[in-house]
This record gives sequence, C-alpha cells and structure tokens, in this order.
Amino acid sequence: MKIAILKETDQFESRIAASPDTVKAYIAAGHSVSIVRNAGTRAYFSDAEFSALGANIIDNNQQAVKDADLVLSINGADISLISHMKSGAGLMGLMNPTDHPEYVQACANAGINAFALEYIPRISRAQSMDVLSSQSNLAGYRSVLEAAGIYGRSLPMMMTAAGTVAPAKIFIMGAGVAGLQAIATARRLGAVTTATDVRPAAKEQVASLGAKFIAVENDEFKQAETAGGYAKQMSAEYLQLQAELTTSHVSKQDIVITTALIPGRPAPLLITKDMLNSMKPGSVLVDLAVERGGNVEGVVAGDIVTTENGVQIIGYLNWPSRMAADSSSLFAKNLKNLLPLLTAEDGSYTPNWEDEIIQGCALTKDGAIIHPRLKE
Ligand code: NAI
Repeated sequence: MKIAILKETDQFESRIAASPDTVKAYIAAGHSVSIVRNAGTRAYFSDAEFSALGANIIDNNQQAVKDADLVLSINGADISLISHMKSGAGLMGLMNPTDHPEYVQACANAGINAFALEYIPRISRAQSMDVLSSQSNLAGYRSVLEAAGIYGRSLPMMMTAAGTVAPAKIFIMGAGVAGLQAIATARRLGAVTTATDVRPAAKEQVASLGAKFIAVENDEFKQAETAGGYAKQMSAEYLQLQAELTTSHVSKQDIVITTALIPGRPAPLLITKDMLNSMKPGSVLVDLAVERGGNVEGVVAGDIVTTENGVQIIGYLNWPSRMAADSSSLFAKNLKNLLPLLTAEDGSYTPNWEDEIIQGCALTKDGAIIHPRLKE
C-alpha cells in the first residue's frame, strides 16, 4: 500500500507520526512511503535520513495525500485536506471527534475511513498501539523536570560541608499513566513524594513506586473505576471531602502536579485559590489537565502564571511535543503495531472491520459515520 506521512500544521506541534525505524519496517514489508518535506525536522529526523531508507520526500500535504491508501498523522489531516484524499483511503490520527463533529462529517463525506487513535480500546492486546499511554507517560516525566527547572531549590536532600538541603515535597494528583510516571520521576530525583487518586487500583500502584497514597477511601471511592479502567465523575460531596483532606497537605508541598481527568467531561477542580494562597512562595504547580479546563484555579493554557503569594502555575499545552524525538518514536511504533489490522496478506490496505480494535477507533466508512458513540 501507499503510506503518506503528514507534516503537522499546528505551530506548537513538533511530532511526526513516523520514525526512521517504522519507515524502514514499512519499506521492508513492501509498502511505499511518502513523507512531506521537513515533517520530521522538529523531532530531529531529517529528510535525508528518511530518503536514505527509501522514502519519497513530497513537497506538501496535499500532494502527499492524493494517491495515498493510508495517511498517518499526529492530529489528523487538516479539514481542508480531507477532500483531496482518495475515496476509500484510511486516515489515522488524534481527532478529538466528540468536540469536532464537523470533522467527522467531512471524513464521511469524502468517503474515507477515519481512525481516531484516542478511541483505541484499552484492552491488553491494544497496549502496544495505545498512543494515549505512550504520550502521557512522557508528559508525566517532563512535567516533573519542568517544575524542577523553575523551582528555586533542590529536589533531593543534599548533605554538604556548608549544611544540609532538605528534599522537596512533591504531590501528584491523579495517578493514571502520566501521574504514575511523574511519581516515578519525582522519586528518582529524590523528592519526598505523595499521590492521590479516586480509583482504588491506583493505591497499590502508587505504593509500588514507593510513594505515599492519600485519598478519601469511602464507599464512593471503592466504586470509582469504570469497566474501562477510567475514573467516574465524583459527587460534589466526595470532592468536598477530598478538598478537606488535601488542603492542609497541599499547603506543605513544594511542587504539585495535577493530572486528573474524567473521559468526556471537564477536568475536576482540585486546587482552589484558597489552597494556592496557603502555599509557600516559590512553590510550583503543573496542571497537565489544562487542555480540558484544568485542575488548578487560575491556570492559563500555554503559559506560566505567578500568584500574588509567589506560587508559579505551569499550564503548558501539548507536553509530548516538548520531547518530540521520543514521543514521535513511540507514537510511530504504536501506529506500526496497528498496521497489521489494516493490511491484507498481499500487503494491500484492507481494514479488518471484524476486529474489536478497529471497530473501537473507526469513525467513518463508505460515506457514513459508523462509531456508536458518534451516532448517538
Ligand atoms: P486519565 O488521563 O483519564 O486520568 C488521569 C487520572 O486522574 C486517573 O488515574 C483518574 O483516576 C484520576 N482522577 C480523576 N478524577 C480525579 C479526582 N477527582 N481526584 C484525583 N484523581 C482523579 O487516565 P489514564 O492515565 O489515561 O489511565 C487511567 C487508567 O486506565 C490506568 O491507570 C489503567 O488502569 C487504565 N489503562 C489501561 C490500559 C490498557 O489496558 N491498555 C492502558 C492505559 C491505561
């Protein structure tokens, strides 16, 4: 099949949906690969490297998609590009379909098969294809480093001839994929680390990383996990109890990293203005949930703000893009692992529509919207 790799058009997006490793594998499997010029530059993959592996370097996205059987992207193709794709071709990327129904409709109208990577079911067979996990993991790691970078003190305890430096206290709120990696990173850097979550499964995972777990463990907590492994929306009463439990803890922290999300809903507010006011000057917060409204009151998307009492809140967007070489490599590998489900034995583009993973992420087929969540 003919595979095209897009150049991402968002100015803050540095990732690419292919790496030299995956391009080499596609070509070895007999596929032809077209990559848009400079698509990998910001992830430190050069056109020369791709070209040496046998990829064709194409001038722009429009030219790249026109005869492609399968288009690989990070964020989907721009909506204006969809009509230039071949009818019956496949498009893979993060598409945020519930927020962008017009995008899904454009894919249906063009007769293409859109596969939204955020909808890949979180079953064990799909773990190697799960871009949400591969990217969140790096985001969690990076969040600790960014916080450490602007925190004016040391993370580990240091015993020096000039005196002892106390270790930093880091609190991670939300112990999913990003949170668990943030915990592991904070521990590696020597910080005294605590964490909270509303899902009981998180308790053991936090403990296994050597951090202390703090949570309101009532009946609601015991039932807070959905069958898919995600958190449920907690009641106002629970959030109140949680706030009471965490308020005094937060006031003693040097760094707080929030990652709490509930699928399909705004992020829960976990850190209020009062809590921020109780923190020491020089403390740092990172809000990884800012794209869904944020866990921290007053966070500004894409920026760092400093409160009146000298607490800095980092609200950067697109954390994986800050580590574009690694995030692109992992994203590309996730897609490569998905490819067998889209390929017939003769190597042609033939999605296996019977497969649970394809059914989970396919939005459109034969001119229609087919995903149950979007048909409702
Ligand atoms: P996420 O990004 O949706 O949410 C992050 C975390 O915030 C979750 O741990 C959630 O429980 C927590 N949270 C929600 N509301 C909260 C509140 N009020 N206070 C504190 N924490 C709150 O979750 P993510 O990182 O995508 O993963 C969640 C879980 O999904 C994993 O721990 C795992 O069990 C499961 N999973 C399964 C996979 C598989 O089997 N293929 C792959 C990845 C994750």
